[in-house]
Amino acid sequence: MTSYKWIESRTPDALAADATALFNAEFGTAPTGVWAAPGRVNVIGEHVDYAGGVCIPFALPLQIAAAVTPREDTKVVAASQKTDGTVARAEVDLKDIRPGGDIGWLGYVAGTVWAAHESGALENLTGLNIALVSDVPLGSGLSSSAALECSVAVAAYELDHGQGPDDAARHQLADAAMRAENDIVGASTGGLDQTASLFGAEGKALVIDFDSHTHRLVNFDIADQDLVLLIADTNAPHELNDGQYASRRGVIDDVQNALGSLRHLSEEQIAAWAHENGKDATLYAKRTGHVLHETARTLQAADALEAGDFDTFRRFMADSHASLRDDLEVTTPELDSAAEAAGTLGARMTGGGFGGAVIALIAKARVGDTVAAIASAAEEKGFAEPTFYIATPGDGARRLV
Ligand code: GLA
Repeated sequence: MTSYKWIESRTPDALAADATALFNAEFGTAPTGVWAAPGRVNVIGEHVDYAGGVCIPFALPLQIAAAVTPREDTKVVAASQKTDGTVARAEVDLKDIRPGGDIGWLGYVAGTVWAAHESGALENLTGLNIALVSDVPLGSGLSSSAALECSVAVAAYELDHGQGPDDAARHQLADAAMRAENDIVGASTGGLDQTASLFGAEGKALVIDFDSHTHRLVNFDIADQDLVLLIADTNAPHELNDGQYASRRGVIDDVQNALGSLRHLSEEQIAAWAHENGKDATLYAKRTGHVLHETARTLQAADALEAGDFDTFRRFMADSHASLRDDLEVTTPELDSAAEAAGTLGARMTGGGFGGAVIALIAKARVGDTVAAIASAAEEKGFAEPTFYIATPGDGARRLV
């Protein structure tokens, strides 16, 4: 009998209580408040956010909570509870943060505060004591990094301004979090994760257009159709600052630096430019082809979603996985195995790839069989045991207490 586990999450109240208890234990007082931000699942529109494309993510009920109090100085002191119950504690002076300087995981936390101050989203350079507890699995492609950045960002914003961020401020905070990730952590990611974490809403998916820099919320009414979105975390960990993500992005940026946003280019224009400039034409056609087709597919998927046409939507999801596997080449044997075991329709990898999770939009009645098929395929191939979660759209970053 193949064994598998479900990913567990706490209620917002329980998460806030745990963050408060950790803050008390680490800093000897109660925090000023507790803020939380969610991880996200990207339903379709993968590896296009840095190329003017369109993505359809939603915020998950899996969140990171940050219990926070401002300090008199400019230090950020952060304590984070790890899954084994131990606590990692680190500190940095905001005045010492520089692009390219390596401050480890504090890059997500203090890096975001630093970047928000640099951009003017925060008026004062104020140090913070921070206690972090997380329900977002690390390295699963569900964006624990954005949850970390955005929980701290909304906390720092409210402590600085005396009120929570409105939509305009949320855009500034998304940019700051992205800058922290690019310039301080050293991961050249786009803005998908932070936008989903800051703007998600219960029951809704976001259609984000990275060309017009706009987004809209659309109903994600799968329950009406007896469908569920199953997440299968392959537990083959991924990191996005190890060069693989950057190498895919490098090809796209090379074209965009010469010709402008991929959103306004055709395959023929790119092929002609690659030929004239001595580029590897086959490689460039595959990589940019993924972006062009995935964006076109996601625009059509948004229409299908709004029309409630989930058969079409699920076909696009399968096409998306094939393109990520064959053209962008960011899947792994674990991801391909899980997607295949989940069936030919509605299954695809989600997030940056190179490990992490697969999602499957399937009939509720098929959950048991699908979970068993994915787990036993992993077992047969000697892969790590996957963990599962039924995802529903939750709220974006906000104050809990
Ligand atoms: C990671 C990055 C995002 C996006 C996705 C792929 O999650 O952080 O910016 O590029 O990969 O869609």
